[in-house]
Amino acid sequence: MAKQEQTQEIAQLKDIIAHAKEYGFVYPSSEIYDGLQAVYDYGAYGVELKNNLKRLWWETMTRLNDNVVGIDSSIFMHPTTWKASGHVDSFNDPMIDNKDSKKRYRADVLIEEKAARLEKEGKLEEAQQLLAAMGRLLEAEDLAGVRDLIINEEINCPISGTSNWTEVRQFNLMFSTQVGSVAEDSSTIYLRPETAQGIFVNFLNVQKTARMKVPFGIAQIGKAFRNEIVARQFIFRMREFEQMEMQFFVRPGSEMEWYQQWAEARVKWHKALGIPESKIRTHDHEKLAHYANAAMDIEYDFPFGFKEVEGIHSRTDFDLKQHQEFSKKKQQYFDPEVNQNYIPYVIETSIGADRLFLMTLCNAFVDEEKDGKSRTYLKFHPAIAPVKAAILPLTKKDGLPEKAKEIVDALKYDFNIIYEEAASIGKRYTRQDLIGTPFCIAVDHQTLEDNTVTIRHRDTTEQERVAISDLHGRLGEACSFRRVFEKI
Ligand code: GAP
Repeated sequence: MAKQEQTQEIAQLKDIIAHAKEYGFVYPSSEIYDGLQAVYDYGAYGVELKNNLKRLWWETMTRLNDNVVGIDSSIFMHPTTWKASGHVDSFNDPMIDNKDSKKRYRADVLIEEKAARLEKEGKLEEAQQLLAAMGRLLEAEDLAGVRDLIINEEINCPISGTSNWTEVRQFNLMFSTQVGSVAEDSSTIYLRPETAQGIFVNFLNVQKTARMKVPFGIAQIGKAFRNEIVARQFIFRMREFEQMEMQFFVRPGSEMEWYQQWAEARVKWHKALGIPESKIRTHDHEKLAHYANAAMDIEYDFPFGFKEVEGIHSRTDFDLKQHQEFSKKKQQYFDPEVNQNYIPYVIETSIGADRLFLMTLCNAFVDEEKDGKSRTYLKFHPAIAPVKAAILPLTKKDGLPEKAKEIVDALKYDFNIIYEEAASIGKRYTRQDLIGTPFCIAVDHQTLEDNTVTIRHRDTTEQERVAISDLHGRLGEACSFRRVFEKI
């Protein structure tokens, strides 16, 4: 990547992070104590956007698919869960330290970043060879080989600029804590590193009580925790984050068909939300996780390059089989169509709510020059915009605030609405642009005469006169999830 291009991309990310903080989307956690690395809080508009994204995902999964139901399982699980799932033994990242800067890196991320640089320089084949070589070494658990690869590829520490690297070591990402009131009673448990296991251990509960027939899916949204080595790139890689996962249980042998089907459905979902074709791609995994027989990432072109937003994994019968073995409880399903008992295979779709949030924010961020004036606004799809409309009386007198508040009262039960009367109308429009409100509704003297208002559209800044009685219908039409669902 050309240095200038790289600097521009870093500057763009910095602008987005600053915007997110300044306008109430995301703050560093416990900031008054200088923050906690890789942990963030969501502000007034951030939480609305995140909730809308989660609700959109939830409704897509559970309403548009009559064979998918939801669940909400606990963060704490019996510790044997994580032994059975393989996380105690295998949920590791290869880490490497630079002896000069004393900085710690993920060895695979250093190599992936080098491959991304090669790709940007047009050396596609070289990039692919590098990733393939890394995949082979990681598969063989050849950590010395990974270190040699880093040194041979002349990958230096971005801080010290040297290649004075330590050995590569595996580092388990699970956080542990103690449960029990007295020390003697206590036993070590983990904060879940993925929500999926809560679904697996409830597979039969849900199948029986919701009377589901294979193929069917279970969806869940919830917190997950990972002690990430590399904590960079804002909310892209956090230590506490939220996952939206769906396990789809299928008849053995049909998994590849379902794998393709879910991958296509998920890519379509991102595009329906407004992600352009050029900014999204899929990428097959070089190294498969211990539970998978096929896996791909859906990647978005973030300011720091194409990176994973969502994973689609064919997890075979690994998890259910393991839980059957460790719990000594049968995890089988009787399929009346083929008159057989079997452990279903599983296709998983797994997306981080925070990463989806970051993609949505990056995609919406517009900083443009028009007619000699610069304007920054967030071009969110109206269905997910944190605030749907701002009701703005032109002045604070002549009965305009009262009329505006009547409109707020008529809309507030169905839409997230803001009322604002301070500052000039231009300044108020700008404030709404900065949080991505798609519609500003101005109440003026004409409103008192003929019950019409002006709607100002965020993206075009065009204005139109509309009857107050039409507002509810207009907002409902533009902001309905249906607008997204129709494109899936
Ligand atoms: N159950 C499978 C699983 O957890 P993963 O690829 O490790 O697979 C799935 O994670 C998704 O969770 C990722 O695509 C990403 O969106 C999100 N994710 C994973 N680690 C994250 C982190 N440290 N911070 C934010 N999001 C994360």
